[in-house]
Amino acid sequence: MKTENWLEWDEETLHSFQDIFLTWYHQEKRNLPWRANTHPYNIWISEIMLQQTRVDTVIGYYYRFMEEFPTIQDLANADEQKLLKIWEGLGYYSRARNLKVAAQQIMDEFGGVFPSTPEEISTLKGIGPYTTGAISSIAFGLPEPAIDGNIMRVVSRLFEIEEDIAKASSRKVFDAATRKIISHTQPGEMNQAFMDLGSNICNPTAPRCEECPIQEFCLAHKNNHPTAFPVKSKKVKPKDVYYIAGAIENPKEEYLLVQRPETGLLAKMWHFPLQEVTKEEYTELLRTWQKDEEQQLTLDLVAEDLSPQVFEELPVIWQRKHFGEVTHVFSHLKWHVLLFYGRTKESFTSENGQWVQPTDFSTFVFPKPQQKLVTQFNKYQKLDKHF
Ligand code: ADE
Repeated sequence: MKTENWLEWDEETLHSFQDIFLTWYHQEKRNLPWRANTHPYNIWISEIMLQQTRVDTVIGYYYRFMEEFPTIQDLANADEQKLLKIWEGLGYYSRARNLKVAAQQIMDEFGGVFPSTPEEISTLKGIGPYTTGAISSIAFGLPEPAIDGNIMRVVSRLFEIEEDIAKASSRKVFDAATRKIISHTQPGEMNQAFMDLGSNICNPTAPRCEECPIQEFCLAHKNNHPTAFPVKSKKVKPKDVYYIAGAIENPKEEYLLVQRPETGLLAKMWHFPLQEVTKEEYTELLRTWQKDEEQQLTLDLVAEDLSPQVFEELPVIWQRKHFGEVTHVFSHLKWHVLLFYGRTKESFTSENGQWVQPTDFSTFVFPKPQQKLVTQFNKYQKLDKHF
């Protein structure tokens, strides 16, 4: 264990820190819709949305969600597709599914009343230590830390904590330091003060120490090296995966959409048919099909020609030029998707597929890569040639 500098603070330092920090928060706090009251349901929904997503993006989603599902009971009874539709674009869709499961848990196990102790709150699906701390402190006034990347950055600088924040085992150090300094009278306000300070002043690469209300307490500032903290080992790079996608149109001007399996990445969401290819195949398709200047529809039968390989066995006529690529980074994967356009006379069916008019796309839940594919598709010219 490295030096636990927070143990050096006496009562006077502690109270002075809390006074200064909370006064700053009350003067400077951002006016955010989930700060209008401290109902646990509102705090819960906002905190789940704010994981991995920027405040500016969350605001609109938060209003729409609350309008559609104003109570725990509404959420427990939510139609899953409707719920995912509201979540569309926020990413990490398991968050939305877990919300519904947790709402059902609250109805069944807690009589419809949001549980009020950290132990009970942490039994809800999708609620980990951070969210337990945020709800316990903001909604129930309990002195519980809410440790996320922002707080770890601020607290690591405050006390020059050298533990690697990428390691789960470091959490207990931040938990101990934050428990020592959190206000017992305004714990929710203090956690939110850390959030605001972390996002506006104590920035990752260019902290604005001259504007920081707690500068005089900060060891990393005193020693002139705030950006030496937090210590963080390198993240593994997301793995590259390559797909080709087919925007396949039938004579009724409908497109084939397929639904993903019940479990796994982007479970039950819809997109154009995809086929995984190797990096080499992908690069070759990108290069050779781009070079082809002629925008003709061609039957892909020539043996030495590289086919776009989207469902090779299907009777599709492919436009002889691809529609460009889109990329999308998930936490552990980077998708590279090359888009092709093709036509078919037969509306072949598949178990998980459906032919859909573009005007009805909005009724399907599209993950971000598919939204990007549709945007890409709309940018390109398809040939106006009929069968
Ligand atoms: N980020 C996570 N939780 C937040 C909150 N309650 N207010 C502002 N930013 C946040």
